[in-house]
Amino acid sequence: MNDSADKKLWGGRFAQRTARLMERFSASEHFDRRLYRQDIEGSRAHARMLSSVGVLTSGECDLIFDGLDRISREIAQGEFNWKPSLEDVHMNIEARLTELIGDAGKKLHTGRSRNDQVATDMRLFVRYCVDSVTVSIRSLQGVLLNLAEREADTIMPGLTHMQSAQPVTCGHHLMAWFEMLDRDAGRFADCRVRANVCPLGAAALAGTSYPIDRQLSAELLGFDSVSSNSLDSVSDRDFLIEFNSAAAILAVHLSRIAEEIVLWSSEQFGYIKLSDAFCTGSSIMPQKKNPDAAEIVRGKSGRVIGNLVAVLTLMKGQPLAYNRDNQEDKEPLFDSVDTITDCLEVFTGMLAESTFDRERMRDAANAGYATATDLADYLVRKGVAFRDAHETVGKTVSFAISSNRTLEDLSLAELQEFDSRIDESIFTVLTLEGSVSSRSHVGGTAPQQVRRAILKARERIGDNLPE
Ligand code: ARG
Repeated sequence: MNDSADKKLWGGRFAQRTARLMERFSASEHFDRRLYRQDIEGSRAHARMLSSVGVLTSGECDLIFDGLDRISREIAQGEFNWKPSLEDVHMNIEARLTELIGDAGKKLHTGRSRNDQVATDMRLFVRYCVDSVTVSIRSLQGVLLNLAEREADTIMPGLTHMQSAQPVTCGHHLMAWFEMLDRDAGRFADCRVRANVCPLGAAALAGTSYPIDRQLSAELLGFDSVSSNSLDSVSDRDFLIEFNSAAAILAVHLSRIAEEIVLWSSEQFGYIKLSDAFCTGSSIMPQKKNPDAAEIVRGKSGRVIGNLVAVLTLMKGQPLAYNRDNQEDKEPLFDSVDTITDCLEVFTGMLAESTFDRERMRDAANAGYATATDLADYLVRKGVAFRDAHETVGKTVSFAISSNRTLEDLSLAELQEFDSRIDESIFTVLTLEGSVSSRSHVGGTAPQQVRRAILKARERIGDNLPE
């Protein structure tokens, strides 16, 4: 029953052994072992705090530290004997500690519960995830900045409704991607602020009668503050919802970028040449080079969004305080952080080695009457009201379409048929270069503004790298 090698640490009041099925069903050690570093770090801080307030002797604390060091090595080297019968990472480590150091090991859990322990582990883990995802976001942003710099003068069609709208610079488009990612990094940083609060001391739900020093535990673990309510401390998983939403929004951004890369690499667009290293071929069509990396990234957004829905649903309607449901909070987090890290790294590698076909982009920009707004703006500068100018240019475009020419191809005399105020100077306005360089204000597409934006962005991300 309860005297086997796999003796339950909570087994005192039980007469019957746990059903095998229940052991398997309730065990989480096969996934929550991933928290072992955080669990050991949390235990060290707790032991140090207990010894500082006199609940443990310094000798007991030393023994606990030695034991935890050894366990940490065993786990890192794959020598640790994980037991599903001991449920989770916390009890596996505690049982081994007692095996190694005897009674001192049994004292580690004084004034603590797995409820505040797991909340602590998860907060430490989320903090680590935020920092590592931020590094990955910054690397991808770095690649985008280099590409944007290279393509600052490159002209391509800017689209609305997937129709040619106005010419833009490719660097400007790449910097739009940069901005999306920058907001993502900001969301992760916000999440870190609320996650970095120490729940240790809340114990099971009501706090503890031992003279604990919560501030010390928090400081030892690098938390910014201690949590304010013990019930909330063991039940709050908002920080996971926040991490998963930041991840989901990032995944959505990556899927949008992926979609453009898929389009741009197609025969029909031909704007970008992806490196062979990140494409795959077809088993039947020898000519194919498929943008699979981008497609998979686009597809991965589904699971990351799913993980967010999973944690939201997990928390919906949950009463205070801790409920075992919360064990289900881990896999969505692990899956999301792994998925977005892979996606970011794949994009970083793929884009770093991609090249743009400037000629194809230019031809496409020339094709869609993308400088029509420039002609209208020109007429406005000549004293025409914008609505009238819009109408006149609409007719001019329609005439150009009927004779299969671009606006630039029309002669001055032909243009003057539509408005006599048009003169020679129109031809600089109608060029693609004229169009983009005229949009020279903060946030505009002019090459000069793109270069300025890149410079500012470099300062911004340089200052914001996590320690
Ligand atoms: N494995 C549990 C979890 O992930 C740890 C906390 C269990 N607490 C309890 N009272 N059964 O949430």
